[in-house]
Amino acid sequence: MAPSTDPKAKVTADWSRDVTLQGWRKWQPEMHEGSVETSRLIINLAGIGRGMSTLDLASGAGDPALYIAHAVGEEGHVTATDMSEGMLAIAQDFAEKEGLQNMDFLVADMEQLPFEDNTFDAVTSRFGIMFVPDHITAIREMTRVVKPGGKVVMMCWAHWDQPFHAANSALIKRGLAPAPPPGIQELTPFRFHEAGTLGAAMREAGLRNVSEQECRLPWDFRGSGKRMWEMWYDIAAPYRPIVDDLDARTRAELIEGVLKEWEPRQNGPFLHLGVRVVVGVGEKA
Ligand SMILES: C[S@@+](CC[C@H](N)C(=O)[O-])C[C@H]1O[C@@H](n2cnc3c(N)ncnc32)[C@H](O)[C@@H]1O
Repeated sequence: MAPSTDPKAKVTADWSRDVTLQGWRKWQPEMHEGSVETSRLIINLAGIGRGMSTLDLASGAGDPALYIAHAVGEEGHVTATDMSEGMLAIAQDFAEKEGLQNMDFLVADMEQLPFEDNTFDAVTSRFGIMFVPDHITAIREMTRVVKPGGKVVMMCWAHWDQPFHAANSALIKRGLAPAPPPGIQELTPFRFHEAGTLGAAMREAGLRNVSEQECRLPWDFRGSGKRMWEMWYDIAAPYRPIVDDLDARTRAELIEGVLKEWEPRQNGPFLHLGVRVVVGVGEKA
C-alpha cells in the first residue's frame, strides 16, 4: 500500500510504531529526569497548585503530567491524554510505578476533546501542538474545557540549532530532513520556532492575556554522548526513518559530527545539553 499523504495519518503512524513505543518506554526515566525544569516552568506558568484538577494533552510517555500529579497532590487530579494508545500506556505504567493514584488516562485527539465545557482548572501540553494539523481548533478546544480564569500553557521547541537537537540539526543542514519553511504549515517539531507564531495562534483561538517567551532551561542527560545518540535515535519518531535510509558512510559521518558537538558538554556522569523552548500562556475570559 502507498504511504498515506494525510498529515494526521502520518503523525499517528509515527507515534504508534512499535520501535517508537519501545524507545520511549526504554528511555522514559532519562526523558523524565532530564526534562524536570521544563515541567516545573509549565507548572509555575499555569499556576498549578495543590487540589487542582488539570488536563494534560499529548502527554506521550507521561510528561509533564507525572510531575503535575505530584504538584496537585492527593486532593488534586490530572487527566493525561494522547492520540497514541501505546504512548499513553507507557505513561500509565510509570504512574503506577510512582504510586500515583490521582491520575486517569484517556486516548483523545487534541482537535476533539471528549470533555464538557469549563471542566479543568488548567490545561497544559508539552511538545504536542506542533503535530496537530488544525492547531487553532485544538487551542479552541483547550479554551472550551478550561474554567473561566484558568490558564492554558503550551511548550514547543525553539530553533533546531541547539545542542539537544544536534542530530536533527545535522540532518536539516545536510538537506536530509525538511527544514520547517517560513510559517507553520509543516507538522515538524520546530513548527512554532518563529517568535510570535504560538502566541498569535493562542490569541486567534480566543485566549486572552496571551504571552509568549523563548526560554533557555537546563536539560541534563545522564550518560555519554554515545548513549544520548542511542536515545535520540530510539525516540525520534519523525527522524528515525530518515536515518534508517542513509547509506553507512553518511550515517557514520552524521554520528561522528553529533558526538563531536556533544563532547565538550560532558561533565562527570551528565551531558549538560540545555534546551531552548518557546512557551505560550493564555487565560480563558
Ligand atoms: C514529542 S511527543 C511529546 C510527549 C510528551 N508531552 C513530552 O513532552 O515528552 C508528541 C506526542 O504528541 C501526540 N500527538 C500528536 N498529535 C496529537 C493529537 N492530534 N492529539 C493528541 N496527541 C497527539 C503523539 O502521539 C505523541 O505522543
